Amino acid sequence: YSLKNHNTFGIDVCAKAFVSVSSVDELKEVLQQVYAHEILVLGGGSNILLLKNIDKTILHIDLKGKTIEKEEEGFVYVRAQAGENWHEFVRWCIEQDFGGIENLSLIPGNVGTSPIQNIGAYGVELKDSFVSCEAVHKQTLQTRTFSKEECNFGYRNSTFKNENKDKYVISSVLFRLTKSEHQLYTGYGAILAELEKQNISKPSIKDVSDAVISIRSSKLPNPKELGNSGSFFKNPVITITDFNKLVEKYPEIPSYPISTTEVKVPAGWLIEKAGFKGIRKDDAGVHRNQALVLVNYGNATGEELYQLAQEIQAEIFKMFSIHLEMEVNIIE
Ligand code: EPU
Repeated sequence: YSLKNHNTFGIDVCAKAFVSVSSVDELKEVLQQVYAHEILVLGGGSNILLLKNIDKTILHIDLKGKTIEKEEEGFVYVRAQAGENWHEFVRWCIEQDFGGIENLSLIPGNVGTSPIQNIGAYGVELKDSFVSCEAVHKQTLQTRTFSKEECNFGYRNSTFKNENKDKYVISSVLFRLTKSEHQLYTGYGAILAELEKQNISKPSIKDVSDAVISIRSSKLPNPKELGNSGSFFKNPVITITDFNKLVEKYPEIPSYPISTTEVKVPAGWLIEKAGFKGIRKDDAGVHRNQALVLVNYGNATGEELYQLAQEIQAEIFKMFSIHLEMEVNIIE
């Protein structure tokens, strides 16, 4: 079964079998029939790099639906099923005038995979409006509710990448969204500039979403046109001491404060400085507008992209003594 249309990198590898489930009962049925270690769960396929053919059954989570569970003064609780496309869910919320996730417009992937890496953009993270999620244990088939605390969210991180890696299938996510008095996060430079360009002084949540869409479309390649998985690496966090040493050599190096002892450095800047921006080796390359994004020009293999990523890691370590961590999940 070819997975080419099921991963946004467009890597052409095969899996042993492919099953799609559209209800929690169907999901449990499959989990009962196939051993947990013989299953690879697939959401939108937007954060994976497939290295080779997979001797497993692909479990495609196709649970759909959105329900309003509860309303309270100024807030609404919305549950979305795991198979809902993330961006379509964001736009649906905006149509209902539910605020809180508009900055996360146009992020590829599905609702069910959004908590795994705590998706984030333009000053907002999933965790800011996340209440809880339901998940089915792959072996015991028990359904469990993970509260926000139990998810242990961090920068592009959660319990589903650590203690609970590969153990659960997330079936739905509950959000707490604003109903009328929206709290807008427009402080991010690019958003302000975009709103200004359009002469918008009192933005609505739709204006913010539209601004994000316009910024992302101008910088990030559309996976439908050019295979990619968004940011391939995380932005590294380093100590101020190490940062100050780098400033001596590279006075123009950008950074964002994290704590009194640490700063975050944009990996895209490091990769560009190391000369990789826009390079291409056969069909594997580094995007010309955003060095943090690796791209497949057509027929790149997962191995070729992985090799390019490792080459970048080695060079960044050599130049800056910084280890770049991959954000995309490598599937061997
Ligand atoms: N930069 C360069 N060259 C590049 C790219 C970036 O010099 O080729 C420098 C610039 O100085 C720029 C800074 O990096 O000011 C930051 O760039 P940008 O605002 O584009 O954000 P980012 O750090 O590259 C992160 C997220 C994105 C998210 C944006 C906006 C990570 C790993 N990536 O990128 O998330 O959309 O901020 O908030 O944290 C994703 O995870 O797939 C993703 C796209």
